[in-house]
Amino acid sequence: MEVLLSREQIAEAVARIGQQITHDFAGESVLLLGVLKGACMFLSDLARQIELDATFDFIAVRSYGNKKESGGEVQMIKDVTMPLRDQNVILVEDILDTGLTLTYLRKLFLTHQPRAFKIATLLDKPSRRVAPVQADYTGFQIPDKFVVGYGLDFAERYRNLPDICALGDVDLK
Ligand code: IMP
Ligand code: MG
Repeated sequence: MEVLLSREQIAEAVARIGQQITHDFAGESVLLLGVLKGACMFLSDLARQIELDATFDFIAVRSYGNKKESGGEVQMIKDVTMPLRDQNVILVEDILDTGLTLTYLRKLFLTHQPRAFKIATLLDKPSRRVAPVQADYTGFQIPDKFVVGYGLDFAERYRNLPDICALGDVDLK
């Protein structure tokens, strides 16, 4: 597999985002809300680059399953366990693709009346966007390639790769 982003490049981007968040929320606390399972590595590394009082929560939404295309519907499989009201919520996502997932989640969580609601995504594929949503913190903009590693999967595999790799057409069946 072709390495698109090395572990060193990822670490640099994660540190940069951590510094931005530390700066933007100076003197306040943040609630890091990770979207399982893809964002688990990003959240755990990002959290250690944020020098603020921080809490974690996790949600899970229905993923692509074994397909590479989004069905367009989003289903909440695991909801938040902590109140978001008056919290500085930072939704932590692995990748912003069509934007359908984040559009749904943003609308839903804004009804919880957080103090702030920001989106941090490690990867962004702007060319794939269907719904108009932008992240507040982005690691990398990438071309329209299906990528795996560092939490990202294809049919639940490859999440444990330390680098982000482009999945070849060989595996597209
Ligand atoms: P969206 O709703 O189309 O923005 O989809 C976002 C979700 O699709 C991400 O959280 C990933 O789970 C999945 N996804 C999109 N592109 C990729 C990719 O290149 N590799 C792995 N998962 C992807
Ligand atoms: Mg995901």
